[in-house]
Amino acid sequence: MVQSDLADIDIIELGESFEVFATGKLSTFMDHISRFRPTTMGKEPAEVIDALQAAIRVRDAATARHQSRTGYLSGAIAKVMGFDRGDVFETALAGYVHDVGKLTTPLHILQKDTSLEDHEFERIREHPEEGHRMISGLTLTEEVKHAVLYHHERLDGSGYPHGLPGTNLPMVTRIVAVADIVDAVVNDRPYRRALRTHETVEILQRDAGTRLDAEVVDATCDVLERISGQKTRPRVMRVQEAFAAE
Ligand SMILES: [Fe+2]
Repeated sequence: MVQSDLADIDIIELGESFEVFATGKLSTFMDHISRFRPTTMGKEPAEVIDALQAAIRVRDAATARHQSRTGYLSGAIAKVMGFDRGDVFETALAGYVHDVGKLTTPLHILQKDTSLEDHEFERIREHPEEGHRMISGLTLTEEVKHAVLYHHERLDGSGYPHGLPGTNLPMVTRIVAVADIVDAVVNDRPYRRALRTHETVEILQRDAGTRLDAEVVDATCDVLERISGQKTRPRVMRVQEAFAAE
């Protein structure tokens, strides 16, 4: 078996674990992913995150699905970038909880199918800080908490909530930022169609090295190509329905 096949299998394994992520509980997911590495995260934070995700699923199922897919993609990017198993888990977890603050965003704004007014966009922009407040007391790594707070920051300082020039943004945050963008553009919105893989790659490459981390963009394009090339792995494709083959 050549090295590239081994790498593929790891990503597939991760995808199968994320099928639990997408449909079940984080505590169950942690059992599945234990082969990647026993995490330092205890039982209680997992149960709290399960409860938060359940609340999101009841209130706004689209956000829950977005978090699950972003978690999968974040973990897959970390895997391609050569992170060790524990760090793959932490990156996936960061993607899984990154939008938890949207629990505080009014539903009529979250589910609005036309363009947002300025004051509505301002309200949405509060979700990173709200989410960070929600999880700050949990026993999670600083990388996970940082990604929740800063996943909309950009390297050139054009993001929010603080407009920080991004030289200090940790890699986990940079990965979740790109995974979040990908999941947004590869899904249909009322006001635009879902982008195809090659269009998504173009969008990422346009911002690589300026707004987005260039190394993360490269790894993401690699993951997208692998996923879009899968023809015979239905379990993973169910989780990854958004990443349809060309
Ligand atoms: Fe967000």
